[in-house]
Amino acid sequence: MKNIIEMKNINKFYKMGNESLHVLKNINLDVEEGDFLAILGPSGSGKSTLMNMIGCMDRFNEGEYYLDNVAIHETKEKKLTNIRNQKIGFIFQKYHLISTYSVQQNIMIPLLTRGITYQQALEECTDTIQLLGLDKRLNHKPSELSGGQQQRVAIARALVGNPAILLADEPTGALDSHTGKDVLSLFKKLNDMGNTIIMITHDLEVAKHAKHIVNIIDGELSMVN
Ligand SMILES: Nc1ncnc2c1ncn2[C@@H]1O[C@H](COP(=O)(O)OP(=O)(O)O)[C@@H](O)[C@H]1O
Ligand SMILES: [Mg+2]
Repeated sequence: MKNIIEMKNINKFYKMGNESLHVLKNINLDVEEGDFLAILGPSGSGKSTLMNMIGCMDRFNEGEYYLDNVAIHETKEKKLTNIRNQKIGFIFQKYHLISTYSVQQNIMIPLLTRGITYQQALEECTDTIQLLGLDKRLNHKPSELSGGQQQRVAIARALVGNPAILLADEPTGALDSHTGKDVLSLFKKLNDMGNTIIMITHDLEVAKHAKHIVNIIDGELSMVN
């Protein structure tokens, strides 16, 4: 199996006036294609910062990062936007759906930003909509759906572009435990279908649904299994 992610000695500092906060410390992380990895750590340990690095949403100060063999540390901002759109499917705790768009339109967003036609985008997302059982909700607005349904829409949106990795930050954090378990079962199913998943969580019970767990404590990673 090839590594879809290779991080070598990543360091990230936040500048706060004269102070510099060392938030990620010599992070080394390899993730194989097809893995389902949980990154587990308490609040303030650097999970979201690491997610932003993996997702190419923010820059690190030192180190090398290869995403699907692309040297992210050498990539200019403009190209990075395309890489982000093509390689990463983001899933957030609070879904981040566009409230004025229908379910269908929300799911199509990553395809439309790639510049294909509306008709092509419609066709390309049909299978994903079926897979996630959203076909009866396509004309609903996000506010007309339950939290679990909204997260399904967000997962569909993350999947449609066939990204190299699904990157989820506390994906069950806003859901009751029953609905959270449904989302985790769905991740398991998507992983069984071949999708690479990285899930960030503070909850060991949630992390246990992954194939592997790494711990992050005070900006440092350590392997658990
Ligand atoms: N934009 C920022 N500027 C300054 N400090 C930040 C910023 N984002 C996060 N931090 C700090 O970095 C540390 C890690 O934060 P974060 O990655 O959000 O942790 P987690 O997601 O594990 O709760 C915390 O001490 C936080 O206060
Ligand atoms: Mg966080």
